[in-house]
Order: sequence, then C-alpha cells, then structure tokens
Amino acid sequence: MADNDSVRIGKGVGIGTPQKTEGYFLKGSAHLEWGMKDRLSRIFDPKSGRTVMLAFDHGYIMGPTSGLERMDLTIVPLIEYADCVMCTRGTLRQVIPPTCNKPISLRYSAGSTILTYLNDECLMDIREAVRLNASLLAVMVAVGDQKHEGDTIRNLTRTVDLGTRFGIPTLGVNAVGKELKRDARYLSLAARVAAENGAHVVKTYYCEEDFEMVTNACPVPIVIAGGKKLPEKDALEMAYRAIDQGASGVDMGRNIFQSDCPVGMMLAVREIVHNGAKPEQAYAVYEEHKNRK
Ligand code: 5RP
Repeated sequence: MADNDSVRIGKGVGIGTPQKTEGYFLKGSAHLEWGMKDRLSRIFDPKSGRTVMLAFDHGYIMGPTSGLERMDLTIVPLIEYADCVMCTRGTLRQVIPPTCNKPISLRYSAGSTILTYLNDECLMDIREAVRLNASLLAVMVAVGDQKHEGDTIRNLTRTVDLGTRFGIPTLGVNAVGKELKRDARYLSLAARVAAENGAHVVKTYYCEEDFEMVTNACPVPIVIAGGKKLPEKDALEMAYRAIDQGASGVDMGRNIFQSDCPVGMMLAVREIVHNGAKPEQAYAVYEEHKNRK
C-alpha cells in the first residue's frame, strides 16, 4: 500500500538530457493528437511509412461484385496479409472475425447505387464507428459531380468534425464520375480539396502521366485504388509506379480479390509497398505463390 513514508526523491536520472520528443513519420500528421496518431500508426507501418489496405466495400454501391459473393471464403483468408481492411459496417458484423486484430477503415458514408446516380450519400452515427472500433472513416468526395459535389464535401467536413471528437482520422475517397478525365490536373485538384477540407488520408486513382504532381501537391498521404481488374503484371506495375511517384500505399480491391491467386497478389503488392521491390520481382513473388497452390 503506497503511503507518504515510501515517497523518495528520485535520483535525478536524465538531468541535463533533454526529454526525447519524437517526430511523426506521416506527411501532414505531425500536429495531430495522440489518438489520431495511434490509429494512423496502426494503418501505416511506421518502419516503411506505408500501407497495404484491402478494400472490399464495393457491395454498398455495386451489390455482390465478382469475387465478393462469399466474403467468408474469399476475403477472410486475405485479411492476415493486409495492414488495414476497408469495408462496410454490414460486412464487418456479418463476416469479419473480430479476432482478426486489424485496423478497420470503415465505410462511413452510404447512399445511392450504380442503378441510379452515385454519390447521393448520408453519414452514419459516429457512435457506431466508435462502437466498431474504427481506425479510419472513409467518405466519398465527388469533386466535379454536377449533382452532389457540395453534398459530399459537406459529408467530408462533418466526418472530420465528428472523427476529431473521438480521435478517428478521415479517409477522403475521391469518387471520379465517368464523365471526368482521370488526369493529373483533375486528380490533384480533387485530392487537394479533400486534404484542405480536413481529410487525413486521401484515396485516389493513379494516372499514367504526372502522377507525382498529384502526390506532391497533396499535403497528406495518398493511397491508390486499384480500379478495374488488370492483368496481374500491369496491376503490379501500376502499384510500383504509384509508390515510386510518392503514394504512401494502396487501397486495392478488385486487382486482389479477382486475381487467380489473391494471396500471391497480396504478397507481391506488399513487396512493392514495404520492401521497394521492382514490378518484375513482385511478379515473381505472385507467380511463385500461384505455382505453389
Ligand atoms: C468503392 C471504393 C473501393 O473501395 C475502391 O474503389 C477500391 O477498390 P478497387 O481497387 O477495386 O478500385 O472506394 O466504393
């Protein structure tokens, strides 16, 4: 039992040595508070400064997307290879084992589907995100959308407000309409708008030309979506180029779970993102795993 008699004056350890104050490894995040940094450090590996996120939230706008019909069979086995998983609250409760111990990028905005006009969205109750122990709140931001641009930016703003109350960072997901050109000019505008409105991480697409203009002008980390399924070699090439040009990771879905060897793709992408592998080295990892099956 502690009492006054056992209180001793310390020996003065460290006198003359300034207390260590560590910097923070993530772009644009140095001034965030402890809870935010803790959550971001679970998503982005502090050693490499990067992340491999596995996205399988497609069903909320697309229904049972190919590869996601039975997520218990196709997605759950991939979770161990991801740094973070991105999904809806439905999937989280229905399919994802709470024992997986991975940070969750929770799809926080919800709304219209591919059958009507996308991006007409609302937000979930922040208490639900806290209850689900979300590490990141993912919100659509449809810059340039004629109908819903303003609504989605309001959603982003509200999410940042709510997340800040609880120390949960926000992922601004750039939703790019079919009528918009995914070039560096548009993507840098959209990413910057998300960051300026408080997104702590931005998810966008890679573009062949001048992608480094996009990452350079975005003051927070960028992760790229994979987009439609590509041949494995091309998807790895894209991931390599994106990282080489300043992306802090990937948040990929279809190029992983629609592959003929999803685990091989996860391992290959990890080699690029965390270990600086060239595309051909990563492809060899994919092939090796595929042939082992
Ligand atoms: C759509 C999303 C997806 O999570 C995103 O597009 C990533 O998946 P893919 O790599 O298949 O494009 O934000 O709601």
